[in-house]
Amino acid sequence: MHSVCTHESCTRIVFFILVLMLLFTRCCSFADVYLFDYNSPYTLLTIKFQNPALMGHVLLSADIISTVEFNHSGELLATGDKGGRVVIFQHEQECKNRPNLRGEYNVYSTFQSHEPEFDYLKSLEIEEKINKIRWLPQQNSAHFLLSTNDKTIKLWKIGERDKRAEGYNLKDEDGRLRDPFRITSLRVPVLMPMDLMVEASPRRVFANAHTYHINSISVNSDHQTYLSADDLRINLWHLEITDRSFNIVDIKPANMEELTEVITAAECHPNQCNVFVYSSSKGTIRLCDMRTAALCDSHTKFFEEPEDPSSRSFFSEIISSISDVKFSHSGRYMMTRDYLSVKVWDLNMENRPVETYQVHEYLRSKLCSLYENDCIFDKFECCWNGSDSAIMTGSYNNFFRMFDRNTRKDITLEASRESSKPRATLKPRKVSTGGKRKKDEISVDSLDFNKKILHTAWHPKENVIAVAATNNLYIFQDKIN
Ligand SMILES: *[C@@H]1O[C@H](CO)[C@@H](O)[C@H](O)[C@H]1NC(C)=O
Ligand SMILES: *[C@@H]1O[C@H](CO)[C@@H](O)[C@H](O)[C@H]1NC(C)=O
Repeated sequence: MHSVCTHESCTRIVFFILVLMLLFTRCCSFADVYLFDYNSPYTLLTIKFQNPALMGHVLLSADIISTVEFNHSGELLATGDKGGRVVIFQHEQECKNRPNLRGEYNVYSTFQSHEPEFDYLKSLEIEEKINKIRWLPQQNSAHFLLSTNDKTIKLWKIGERDKRAEGYNLKDEDGRLRDPFRITSLRVPVLMPMDLMVEASPRRVFANAHTYHINSISVNSDHQTYLSADDLRINLWHLEITDRSFNIVDIKPANMEELTEVITAAECHPNQCNVFVYSSSKGTIRLCDMRTAALCDSHTKFFEEPEDPSSRSFFSEIISSISDVKFSHSGRYMMTRDYLSVKVWDLNMENRPVETYQVHEYLRSKLCSLYENDCIFDKFECCWNGSDSAIMTGSYNNFFRMFDRNTRKDITLEASRESSKPRATLKPRKVSTGGKRKKDEISVDSLDFNKKILHTAWHPKENVIAVAATNNLYIFQDKIN
């Protein structure tokens, strides 16, 4: 017998390999990388960091993520992307055998919110890209959110279903009509349990009210109205009424050639339903009170920091344009982001911010090339943490910055798959600003301006953050010891 492998030994080898594979997969489940395919535009990749501060997972999207928003308790996280999709993640309960993980965010629901359209009057394509998502406070078992592209706002209901009605009289279980001559007795339909299904259904469409691109939506604290802002106007809507809205701000000049300023962002006050703010491309913020007049063209408060004449340059006006404005949870402060800094304003002090944080001051010497490659027009957002004591905003090279308002400490972190290898550390990054570059520092000239973090969100109750870096969504949480 020269055969190398008898039938029996073959079986044994195969068995041995199987055991090895089994062992290997068992071992792998202790190495901290998991890849799940949820048959959705996202893939979930969980990575544990050895860093004492942060751990996280990465979710890969089919398209560029254009907005990220936690619901009011942080258990759900919604993302919108350039392809008009909305993906909702749900925070799973803690896993018992892995106490150092708070539980993961798994895909809960995915749906197509907007489709590309065509504006025949202006011969313009209307992109399906989701500009903003806002959750409505939960009132029953279903969840509601507003999503908007450049022109149309939609109200979506996301509900769960785990029962199905069966035993109809006129149709079969699969919906086909039954032959009327075969129906001899009357049945009472019954509710049967079925696998849990999450359904998203469009409830309202708020269209045809914006001539320019919608940059903000914000749900009012009365939970019945919301505002939507475009470059020149702000409208107030009732959530139940889709065929009309009230124009509350209109800065469109009679002659468009006199246009010097556009609205860049707007938000309702978190607890005074008559108050809202909007920011402008000139670096100013106006606070308006809807009780004073129906049309709030005249503001109640005007926030502006006088310009420092010594740093004036050709780019001054461009970099002072405000890309985001956010009220603190308490409603006492607001935060604005401009190209190089984040500012915190006390609502009772209009002439200057109470705090200013430099995000990437080293770019001041690079403004010329940032103007040439259009990066200078990037719109970075900013967010507060749950207790208003820390703030976060993005930068280039997939860096994002966090500032502690009490200690005045700041940190630069990087959201990248390379630095997110299993057991790798999410270590603070430093950019060298002239002079000699230290080890571990990156020079300004080697920053990648195509990698930018525009959208971030902070869990309202915990130290969990979501960071969108092009088509990757990173969810980091501080490590629980
Ligand atoms: C956020 O979503 C979770 C998960 O479904 C839900 O339990 C919670 O009530 C929601 N929070 C708010 C304030 O809507
Ligand atoms: C907010 O940030 C502060 C300071 O970094 C931190 O101590 C606190 O736990 C954070 N709060 C929440 C709710 O995330």
